[in-house]
Parts: sequence; C-alpha cells; structure tokens
Amino acid sequence: MSTSPTPIPGPPGVPLLGNIFDIDQNNTWWSLKTLAEKYGEIFQINALGHKIVFVASAALAEEICDEKRFRKYVGGPVKEIRYLTHDGLFTAYDHEANWGIAHRIVAPQLAPNLIANHFDELTLCTDELIASWKVLGTNNTITPLTDLNRLNLEATTLTLFGKKLNCFDGSSDNILQAMEDSTSEAMRRPSRPKLLTLLLHNSKWKKAAKTQRTWAQSLIDHRAANPTPARHDLLHALLNSPDPETGTTLTPSMVIDEIVTMPIGSSTAPCALTSLIYFLLQNPSVVTRAREELASVCGDAPLSQEHLKSLPYITGIVRETLRLSHAAPGFNIEPIPKEGDTSPVLLAGGKYQIPHNQAMIIVLAGVNRDPAVFEEPLAFRPERMMGEAFEGLPRGVKKWFGNGKRECVGKHWAWEFLVVVTAKLVGEVDFEAVEGGYVMKQDGWFNVRPVGFKVKLTSIVTLFTVAFGTASAITISLPSGVSIPSGVSLPSGVTVVSAAATTTATAAAGNAANAKRQINFGSLSLRQAFGGQQTRSSSAAAATAARKA
Ligand code: HEM
Repeated sequence: MSTSPTPIPGPPGVPLLGNIFDIDQNNTWWSLKTLAEKYGEIFQINALGHKIVFVASAALAEEICDEKRFRKYVGGPVKEIRYLTHDGLFTAYDHEANWGIAHRIVAPQLAPNLIANHFDELTLCTDELIASWKVLGTNNTITPLTDLNRLNLEATTLTLFGKKLNCFDGSSDNILQAMEDSTSEAMRRPSRPKLLTLLLHNSKWKKAAKTQRTWAQSLIDHRAANPTPARHDLLHALLNSPDPETGTTLTPSMVIDEIVTMPIGSSTAPCALTSLIYFLLQNPSVVTRAREELASVCGDAPLSQEHLKSLPYITGIVRETLRLSHAAPGFNIEPIPKEGDTSPVLLAGGKYQIPHNQAMIIVLAGVNRDPAVFEEPLAFRPERMMGEAFEGLPRGVKKWFGNGKRECVGKHWAWEFLVVVTAKLVGEVDFEAVEGGYVMKQDGWFNVRPVGFKVKLTSIVTLFTVAFGTASAITISLPSGVSIPSGVSLPSGVTVVSAAATTTATAAAGNAANAKRQINFGSLSLRQAFGGQQTRSSSAAAATAARKA
C-alpha cells in the first residue's frame, strides 16, 4: 500500500500575488529565517507565480547536496548578477564550459599551501586595522562591519591582486558601496515588476557594475605598470595561466569577471567576523579560554603561520561563528534534469514530493540550528566544533561554504583570514557593549550581518620587544595609558624604576657585576586602555630573562 506524500507547508498568501507579503523585500533572509522557525524542515512560497521550495533541516540539506541527484540552480538573484560577472565562477550555469576553465585556473591559486604564503600580508592588514583603532582615544565606539569590510577589501586586494589599497580611511568605500548596490539590486529584481526596474532602477545598477569592472581593470593596469615577475598570485594566474585541461587562457573580459567576483565572495568573511565579536561579547568565558590557548601556544611570540594549526579552541570559535551567524545564508539547488523524464522527485524517502525541475533554496539559519542535531542550538559553544565532536556532526550542518563542485573556491583563503583575524582580535583587543546593549538582528543580500551593531574598545595590547643589550640599563618608553601589569615577574638584577603613572619605565641591572652581561628583557604584552582608563592587568606573559655570560 503506497502512502501519499506529505504536502509541503507554507504561508497561505493572497490571490495572484501569492506570498509577496510574507517576504520583506528589504530583508529576504530574515523573513526566510522566520519562516524556517515556523515551518521547520521544509516549506514553500509562491512569488509572482513562481513556486520556490526551502529546505531548513540538516537531514534534507544533506540529501539535496547529493551531487548524483542535484546541482546548483542558477536563478533568481544569482542569474541577475550575471549582468556583472557573466559566466564567471559564481554565476556560471552548470553547462557553461567557462566555469571549468576558470575553476582549473583559480582553484590551485587558492589552495592551502599557497594561501599560507599570504600569512604575512594578512597579518599586516589586520595590524593596520588594530593600529587605526589605537588612535581613537576617547572616541572609541566603532562599527565593526564598516572596519572589517575595509579590512577584507584591503586583504583580498593585496593577497590576490598584489595591490595595497590603504583603504582604512574609507578611500575605497565606493567599491564596497558598488558591491552593496549590485547585490541588493540583484536580490530585489526577481520579485519586482520588470517595467518598474527598467524605469527606476537600471541606471544605479549599471553604474555599480561599471564601478566594479573599472576597478578590476585598474588592478590589471597597476600590474602592467608594476611588473612583479616573482609574484605568482591569483592575478598572475588569471592573466597568464592556461587551463591545464584545454590549454585555453581567459579572455580580458573573463579576467575582469573573476576579479570582480572575488571581493563579493569574500565579503561574507567580515559579516561572519562582525557576528563573532557579538558572540564573544555575550560569552566572556570563551574569550578567557581563547586567550589561555593563545598564551600557551604563542607565548610572547607574535602569531605565526605555524601557530594556526595548534589553535583548536579558536578553530572551534570560528566554526561555531560560521554555524550560528550563517553569514552565507543559503544556496540554490535543483534536481539534475533527466532527458525525457518529468516524473516528480521524492525527498526524505518519499515523505515529500517536488516537481522534476523544482528550484530549492537551502536556508542555513534553519539547517545550522537544527534542534535534531544541536542541543541548545542558539548557544555559542566552540567545544561542539572541536575534534571528535565536530567530526561526529552530520555533513548537512557543515555546509557554510556550500557544496560539491560549486563549493566556495575561496574557502581556504576565508579560513586563514578568519582564524588570523580572530586570533589577533581575541589576543589584542578588549571589546565592551555600548550603553543599552544590542539585540541581534541581521540583514543583508548575498550574505547576512548584524544590523547597526556598534561596540566600544576598552583596551588594546601593545607588544614591546626589547632587544638584547650589553648596557647596564634598559629604558622602555610607555605610551600614556600603558603600564607594566601587576604580577609580572621581572628578571633578577632588573628593577623597574617607574611604570604605570609615568611614561617611562627603566629596567636597570642591579649591580656592577651584571653590567657587561647581555640582558634579554624579552617582550612585554601590555594592554593600552582608551580614554585614560585604568590599565587592566595583562593576561599575557611578560618579561623573561636569559643571561649570557
Ligand atoms: C566566511 C567566508 C565565506 C563563506 C561563508 C562563503 C560561502 C560560500 C558559499 C556558500 C558558496 C556557494 C554558493 C552557491 O552555491 O551558490 C560560495 C561560493 C563561492 N565563493 Fe565563497 N564564501 C566565503 C568566502 C569567500 C572568499 C574569501 C572568496 C574569494 C577569495 C569566495 C569566493 C567564492 C566563489 C568564487 C564562489 C563560487 C564558486 C563556484 O561556483 O565555482 N568566497 N561561497
């Protein structure tokens, strides 16, 4: 006896217009998150006559990520943004040969071994951001998304295209705005009457595309004017490398498609990091444990590429952030067409039935917080993303970078960036909630981020490295607001003459016998408070002495 499939639930909607009022056109993903919370593992809506099915459970997501049955669906906003990137990596239809050509040229450049070569550039950019915060003084309330967006553009452009933008002053905000304009309009176009779009929204849309493509061309021109034969980065590959399979190189227009695609793809990372700061504020014990891990792994040394693989707790923080922020909010799937076969496709062993050509969207806000997988799914718990606990999770809840052959080609870059920035923020910066606190609400287009989230900076670590010396005294200049923390054990024979209240601390060798000895005062990790506040005691290790006769 066959049982009939369960109808896929969804909001009732109104005649002709369908569910147009169930989706906020200015915040589609928030509406979808809300519907996922209401309807659970699967639901459907009708937008101007088009039915879309949404999948919001780990098990169903895993099922429709089976590449033998399903593939990426290029429709809706993804199809719209082809105006900007044509058949580039993100927007290519499954059948388009240029996807394979570009993928085989780009993917090796974004492989972990080559990404590791960019570690110094990533830390340089992150240090610049933190330095820009240090000068804020009493004016120390920041909008993390703005600053992290700039950091992301700076780091993407430097590592992948070899150009330093120096954009922390906002000088490249026009590029970020053009990205925002393109993606917001791509999201709105599918559900807006075409005439309205044509009359009212086309000129901004075209201008945004032109801004980004002109910017991409300027990076190519910069490389031509400043040849760097030894630098084999992504831009070098896009311009020069043939596809290993067909021998084809990219046309000039295809190179621009891919350059423009990268910052749009990577703009998900600052959204995740903004949420991460929010989660850390909510969970001070996580910060304490992460600092302990950093202190035990790095000691007094600056963060290095080698350290990254020894930071399981920070790894857990980043994964838990990707889960709970669902910064890339979802991706599109459709059944692989079978010639001459229009029979319905069955899901969950026949529990549900969809048409053979049904477009589906995986809503990660539902999948990543599936109560069938996670106990207290809304809690931020890095531990569940570590070691065996992480390995044991179903594959469906690890789809923050997408799926299969259309999985994020920048995922190793993103990972390195997220871990480096997280480690440096946790180790060097103290955040404090602004007065009145903040209630999480997200918005966004191709990615989601906390709306209007601001935060106060209360202190920043300043690292002083005092070189070896043969003199009998070492003088360290401390900026105002910095002190040597209590509990720091100074080497014997070294005295701190003055510290906290003054700007200079002098460490002197205790007696004449030491005068000719080299004293390694090591490095001091000190927190610099903003606005003349009392400096908190440093959690980092401080002076160590090594004497050489
Ligand atoms: C936290 C950071 C990131 C997340 C969560 C993320 C997530 C994703 C997801 C879910 C997809 C699949 C989209 C789909 O199926 O339609 C994707 C694709 C893509 N991402 Fe990312 N991404 C991130 C960072 C980056 C970075 C740093 C880059 C570039 C350096 C990048 C470039 C791309 C590209 C080019 C694609 C299309 C790949 C293809 O279809 O061949 N992404 N990303």
